[in-house]
Parts: sequence; structure tokens; C-alpha cells
Amino acid sequence: MSGLNPHFKAALQSALERYETPFYAYDLASIQARVGALRAAFPKAEVFFAMKANPRLGILRRLLGWGVFLEAVSVGEVRRAYAAGFKRTEVLLNGPVKTPAALAELKELGVPLLGLDSLADAERVARHLPGSHVLLRVNPDLPVVTHDHLATGRGESKFGVLPQDVGQALEIARAGGLDVLGLHVHLGSALEHPEDFRAGYAVMERLYQEYGPFEVLNLGGGFGLGLDLAALAPEALGLAERLGVELWLEPGRYLVAEAGVLVTRTWGTKQTRRNFLLVDAGMSHLLRPMLYGAEHPVEPLYAGGAPQTFDLAGPACESGDILARGLTLPTPQEGDALAILQAGAYGSSMSSNYLDTPRPLELLWTGEEWEVLRQRQSWESLLLEEQSEG
Ligand SMILES: Cc1ncc(COP(=O)(O)O)c(C=O)c1O
Repeated sequence: MSGLNPHFKAALQSALERYETPFYAYDLASIQARVGALRAAFPKAEVFFAMKANPRLGILRRLLGWGVFLEAVSVGEVRRAYAAGFKRTEVLLNGPVKTPAALAELKELGVPLLGLDSLADAERVARHLPGSHVLLRVNPDLPVVTHDHLATGRGESKFGVLPQDVGQALEIARAGGLDVLGLHVHLGSALEHPEDFRAGYAVMERLYQEYGPFEVLNLGGGFGLGLDLAALAPEALGLAERLGVELWLEPGRYLVAEAGVLVTRTWGTKQTRRNFLLVDAGMSHLLRPMLYGAEHPVEPLYAGGAPQTFDLAGPACESGDILARGLTLPTPQEGDALAILQAGAYGSSMSSNYLDTPRPLELLWTGEEWEVLRQRQSWESLLLEEQSEG
């Protein structure tokens, strides 16, 4: 996996002179390059960015300018998409639970494209929002290779309807007056094996032959950073062509992961039975290592001394608050900075206020200057919902 681009690395040094750590920083050129690479691989596909990967308005608005639409998974995300300027037909809302209150809220806001996730969901959406344009999510029941929490296409996952239930779900949706555009599959996230995608495409082809014709085929996201998309794309495009449908994709990680870093400073070392480097970012800022065992490469932003092997220990009072293990790094001085790479997807969006930690500053490098995408959250704002009326 490649390290930091030298221009971006130099820009990070200038950010370190102005801003306190920890902060997220994104390289706009990298996001633009990923959009370009995706479009080159899938020239005719409609791209819906999975906004849960990175919902900063400053990023969403750029994507809108490049003709990318959004995939949302909550009413809050739909509101954010509309606030960024996306139209109803440019937002696709997925998700397994849509309550009557959520559906009423969507009616007020303007109903986006909707993904149906179960028989109950199909029935409820039809009851509350008849006439909506929907896709039905299929659970292809395949043994996809990724972390258990990311394997949405396995039969044990909570997502989608099994192939044998597709007919019944379609009947419910159509009888309820929904306009079914097509079927949807999202096999999982951080998938590195093209065979998983091929197996998913084969399931979809069978279902389209059995239940088609449809207008749209949504093959989801899930592209791992090491996947050879150019090799996989012709198979997806060929499938869409054979079925005579428009191809939709929902990548999250692929578009933004490599564009983002979490910058943290080191505040000493300590030894127990392991050698730790103490840093000011932790699980409240970047949860992925703890949640998924995710491994993020780390690049020093200092010259430093002799190399040593460290675990990167965050400030939380939690044994699991280790951002990386077994890193070989030059020995830093107190206050030296590190960049935690591939943090542009599911980094800030999964950050929390655990331990009264304010959410960190987020910056975008435009190639010329740093744009503040989100201010560091004020500690005072953490108290707002607790203030009494009197
Ligand atoms: C329905 C759906 N589509 C797309 C995505 C994006 O996945 P990725 O970021 O792995 O591309 C997700 C992620 O969880 C998802 O649940």
C-alpha cells in the first residue's frame, strides 16, 4: 500500500504549525482521482457514494459537482444530503429498519429512492409511502471473505431477503403500489477477492432471469483498496448489458479512505511487557482498529532516532484503545507527529464523544490551502442536551 503523497505530506507540516492535534486531514485531489478511476472502470454506471464513509458537507458538495449521487442509511443522512444540495432522485436510502415516524419524516422532507430490506419493510414502506421508487435488497447467502461485522452478504447477516424470498417481497411491494426499479446487493465491505463479487453477480443474474425485467441493477459497494477494479468492472458491465439494465454502484471506502489521515502527536513512550508509543488520538477519534481489527498504516511526520517497535496507545482508559500494533518507527521526541493513513472512510464518521472527548477538527487540502470542513467540537457543546429548563 502506498504511503503519503509528498505534496500532501508537506501540506500536513503546514497544518501542524496552525492546528492542534488530533485532526483529520483529507486530500481533495486524491478523492477526485478515485472518482476518476471509478468512472474510467465503470463508464456507464451511476455512482451513489455511501455517505456513512465520510459525510462532511464540504466533501459531499464536491462529489455533487462531479455528478456523484449519495447512498444514505438514516433519515439524518437524507437530511444532510438534501442540505448539501442533492435532489430526491439523487439520494438512495437503504437500511433494515424504517419506522413509521421515519417514513412520515421522509414524506415531509421529500421521499428519496428507497431500498427495501425485508418483507416487513416492503409492507410498511408500501403502506406509508405508496408510489415510491424502490429497490429490493437481496441477501445472496454467500461466504464472503471479510471481517464478520462487514460480511453483509452472508446468509447469517441481518441484511436483505434471501433469494427464495425475493418473489414474495416483490409481490408485496408491487401489490402495495411501489415502483420496483430493480434489485440490490451489497456483499460486504473491504472485500479483496474478485471471486466474492463474481459469485454475487451470478446470484443476481439468476434472479433477474427469474423475476425480471427490471430497469436497474444495484451492485453495491465494498471494493477493498487492494482490489483490481479494472479487472472486475467488465464483468459487472457485461452483466448489466446482458440484462438490459442501468448499473448502479455504492462505493464508500474506495472513494475516500486513502484521501484521509488522522494526525496525532506522540507524548512519550512506556514499557509494560510491550513497548508503547503514547499518542493523543484514540478510539474516540478512530474506532476501526477496535471495532474491526482494522490495520491502518502509520507514517511518521518527523525524522527521529533509531527505529523501535511500538504499539500505538491512545488516551482512553480502555485496554483495547490501541490504534496500531507492532509498528517499526524512528524513536520520536515528545510532540512529534504521526499520520495514521487510510483514515478517510469510517474514521471521523464513527468518532464519538466517549469520555467527553470532543470530535476532532477536519481539514481539506484543496491543493492550495487548508479548508476547515468541521471545527473541533467545543467541550461546552457536549453539555447542551443536559441543560435543565429552569
Ligand atoms: C448498503 C451499503 N452500500 C454501500 C456501502 C459502502 O461500503 P464500502 O465503504 O465498503 O464501499 C455500505 C457499507 O456499509 C452499505 O451498507
